[in-house]
Amino acid sequence: MTTESQEIKRLVREKYGAKAKGVIELSVVQPSGGGDAGCCSPADVDRALRMYTEGQIAGLPAESVAASAGCGNPTALAGLQPGERVLDLGSGGGIDCFLAAQQVGPQGHVTGLDMTPDMLELARKNQASLGLTNVEFVQGEMENMPLPDASVDVVISNCVVCLSPDKDAVFQEAFRVLAPGGRIHVSDMMALDGQGPARTDPEAWASCIAGAEDREVYLGRLSRAGFEDITITDENIRFDDEGVPMNVASVKVVAKKPA
Ligand SMILES: C[S@@+](CC[C@H](N)C(=O)[O-])C[C@H]1O[C@@H](n2cnc3c(N)ncnc32)[C@H](O)[C@@H]1O
Repeated sequence: MTTESQEIKRLVREKYGAKAKGVIELSVVQPSGGGDAGCCSPADVDRALRMYTEGQIAGLPAESVAASAGCGNPTALAGLQPGERVLDLGSGGGIDCFLAAQQVGPQGHVTGLDMTPDMLELARKNQASLGLTNVEFVQGEMENMPLPDASVDVVISNCVVCLSPDKDAVFQEAFRVLAPGGRIHVSDMMALDGQGPARTDPEAWASCIAGAEDREVYLGRLSRAGFEDITITDENIRFDDEGVPMNVASVKVVAKKPA
């Protein structure tokens, strides 16, 4: 790994570690439960409702909603079936793992992979409060996944691949761990023209902006990794705080590993 890639990863880990710690600390001061929103502010709920339905977040721990840092809803329309094995890349506080776990049921299994220890701690606390036994959270990097070949049916991810300085490695690894015929459903940020996002500093990278890559380049990486039927199913342009459209969009992309 180059020094620049290491620095990007360090900043990403620092940013999301701080976010997880903040949620954990607040949840100690203001525990959730008993109908109380706990650590989850109205702003957290509003942000989550831009991606998830009220019904989806209703039964989840407030801490998983507060930690939610995605840009989409990767399990929506993923057609998860009872018994399927799901892997969530960059699982954060666990929100998409918990939604996937409901869909695959007790015969299925969900693995949340994350490289940030504080996020894993938060996700495991959330899992314990839900009492879910078909989910596990594993520490590791998505560029080098600690999982056997052909061991999952579906890979999901929510606003994480854009954070990687080596997206080819991520897609090659996703292809390796998927069983033949398996599918990938990724919500992510992509740049809208070949120029890429205007900001390239590492801090902007950690905020999912600088690492957002041109659509064609991104889709080309999926194709080179071996995926087929690569389709963008949803795309929403992002606006800055002044309401000016940015050169990035949150996008949902789906693809298949040949059977
Ligand atoms: C933007 S947050 C998204 C979290 C979660 N998917 C969600 O929707 O709330 C990014 C997460 O990905 C993790 N992450 C970033 N780069 C990673 C990598 N290379 N390998 C594994 N996890 C990574 C971070 O630790 C963080 O928890």
